[in-house]
Amino acid sequence: MCGIVGYVGKQNATDVLIDGLRKLEYRGYDSAGIAVFENHKIVIEKAKGRLDNLEQKMEETHRPTGHCGIGHTRWATHGEPSDVNSHPHGNERVTIVHNGIIENYQQLKEKLEHRGYSFLSETDTESVAKLLDYYYSGDPIETLQKVISAIQGSYALGVMFKDNPGTIYAIRKESPLIVGVGKGENFIASDVPAIIKYTKDYYLLDENEIAVLTQDSVHVYDLDGEEIQKELHTANWDVEAAEKGGYPHFMIKEIHEQPSAFRNTVSPRIIDGLPDLQLENLSDEQLKTIERIHIVACGTAMHAGMVGKYVIEEMARIPVDVDVASEFRYRNPILGKNDLVVIISQSGETADTLAALRLAKQQGVPTLAIVNVVGSSIAREADSVCYTWAGPEIAVASTKAYMVQLSVMYLLAAKFSQLKGTLSENEVRSFCGKLMEIPDLLETVLEQADNCQYFASKFQNARDLFFIGRGVDYSLSLEGSLKLKEISYIHSEAYAAGELKHGTISLITDEVPVVAIATQQALYEKMISNVKEVKARGAKVLLICREDAPEQKDITSYQLRIPLVDDILMPLLTTVPLQLFAYYTAVLRGCDVDKPRNLAKSVTVE
Ligand code: M6R
Repeated sequence: MCGIVGYVGKQNATDVLIDGLRKLEYRGYDSAGIAVFENHKIVIEKAKGRLDNLEQKMEETHRPTGHCGIGHTRWATHGEPSDVNSHPHGNERVTIVHNGIIENYQQLKEKLEHRGYSFLSETDTESVAKLLDYYYSGDPIETLQKVISAIQGSYALGVMFKDNPGTIYAIRKESPLIVGVGKGENFIASDVPAIIKYTKDYYLLDENEIAVLTQDSVHVYDLDGEEIQKELHTANWDVEAAEKGGYPHFMIKEIHEQPSAFRNTVSPRIIDGLPDLQLENLSDEQLKTIERIHIVACGTAMHAGMVGKYVIEEMARIPVDVDVASEFRYRNPILGKNDLVVIISQSGETADTLAALRLAKQQGVPTLAIVNVVGSSIAREADSVCYTWAGPEIAVASTKAYMVQLSVMYLLAAKFSQLKGTLSENEVRSFCGKLMEIPDLLETVLEQADNCQYFASKFQNARDLFFIGRGVDYSLSLEGSLKLKEISYIHSEAYAAGELKHGTISLITDEVPVVAIATQQALYEKMISNVKEVKARGAKVLLICREDAPEQKDITSYQLRIPLVDDILMPLLTTVPLQLFAYYTAVLRGCDVDKPRNLAKSVTVE
């Protein structure tokens, strides 16, 4: 939610800020703005809409020149997207960009209004800008210390004081912010892609730390003003990973990156043919004692957890609950002393998921985070982390991150089966061998892209669409449906196929197509009965089934066949055509695939 970038160095700050914001646009894109020191003044330019609007506005009016500035791309929380609500906020003395939510902004605003301040925007951010001005004593660090103790909520802030040209200040709480360290130039950013073109080295700013950047130095202080020595991190991917690399959209590029993402995540964790997750602070002895697992996540990550439930229960016979994080955190969950809480998050910053993690920790339950972004809040706070090595996922719709989250579910299932003895060592070895074959099979499934495009062309005009499945295929239906809704704006529902006739089948007509997922041999005939039911109501059916499934030409309009693997591994392959189907439908409908309306990649507010 919202992207922040800041630059100080020798380059043209406007160019670097716009370039960085372009890489962060996935975090929010309803308005954008920059503030740059120009001739000893802070010059602000901002515009409603995409970054292109800001660029165009600056072309027509004024494009600041200077070497130090901060920028922002917004996902509106308080106040509609508009020029005035866009960031930066502030006045000629102090200017800020903000990601997060200031919970006590109303109280702050009232207090400041009594002291003569007037507010222009509807944002929570403006109260911080005014508060900074109110507290400003000529000493930026002292001012920031006061502000930190006065504001409540979540924030990453980039700040410039007019009295300190060539210096950027930054603080954060519950919203991500890194400090990029270059040669003769330094940066702040919400995420690594914004700075990777310039430097791979960065510090992770911790809560209650104050970063001070000039072109030649970075200093970080604690709340008492004591300087802190920070650990320097180096990104292990390069600039190409954050570019489209010839693909028309990040989403399709990321779909095609799934074989290598899977390989990178799984191969290092299969040692001598057996699963080895190398979990710090979570020994095999501890894992052996686990009697119940709670998987907590949001959206697509939660859907990965649903597949995890199926696979872990099936293989290791450990009961698994799956919760949406926003529900888990407020429902007073019952957590036992032999339980494990598994948190799944691509970004590692999702507010509800982070809160769920903290709740589990408060109750003294061991926590394992499955996270894609190195050094993210969830990764840092969980007892143990298993990083998924998908590389940066830029498209708002999650694809390769889901794939690697699934892969870790399978590794966990294999590990628990081995530890609990529900599978013999040979069986675990054989399973791991089959996991290692998945990347090649994914390549084969990707060859079905043209078919998926064809099916998309047939269904693109639907107003409503159903995905149905049974067992683990039902979890896939949920993900297929979410993907389609998210990027194509077609209303779709996922239904457990056997549940349709308990009410919802009344919605099926010849105008409501159905995607039926039937990859599980034990449930195939049951699924075919459900397909017949919807066909009898006029629905056009796309059947997704195993390669060796019988022809069903009389009851289905289209069929898509998945290469043969054990039923339990089918989700890994079946996911791909669902992603491709959603992608091509969105493209054919002229949607903005990578930046769907109303959404942002990283949901750092609850
Ligand atoms: O970063 P996270 O994995 O915690 O994000 C969770 C969801 O917001 C995310 O998976 C969302 O549902 C995706 N945009 C769906 O494609």
